[in-house]
Amino acid sequence: MNDTRDTLMTAARQAAANAYAPYSKFHVGAALLLADGRVVTGANVENASYGLSLCAETVAVASILASGARPQLTALAVTGGGPGAAGQGPRVTPCGRCRQVLNEIAQLGNTDPVVWCDGAEGILEVRLSDLLPHAFGPANLG
Ligand code: THU
Repeated sequence: MNDTRDTLMTAARQAAANAYAPYSKFHVGAALLLADGRVVTGANVENASYGLSLCAETVAVASILASGARPQLTALAVTGGGPGAAGQGPRVTPCGRCRQVLNEIAQLGNTDPVVWCDGAEGILEVRLSDLLPHAFGPANLG
């Protein structure tokens, strides 16, 4: 588990280096582990119309689903911080919107992924269902 965590966190930190975040200057990276062993990363993509900015986790989920894959999401790591300083500041947990976006792919594959959240005070390990209890997802549409 520690190996998986470290592999994913390294990938997330590398992904954060690709962030397009000229407005917040807060570079976020996410690395998602699929049951087939594939690791898919994302970085935040901001916009001059600030509210249209995309979070790293959402970019990663969109990348997976847009590829046509409907995989099982096993685990993910999230990190962020100033340019070149991901994980060196306050802990980064997925924002509320990203929790919902992650829940979509998790429910599709019937998993409850482990989420590792990076920060200078240490890596928090939590389940998605703890970040988003009583989630609304595909199953709720009947
Ligand atoms: N951000 C993410 O990419 N993921 C999160 O879960 C939290 C916030 C981004 C959005 C924005 O580009 C920057 O971090 C500052 O909020």
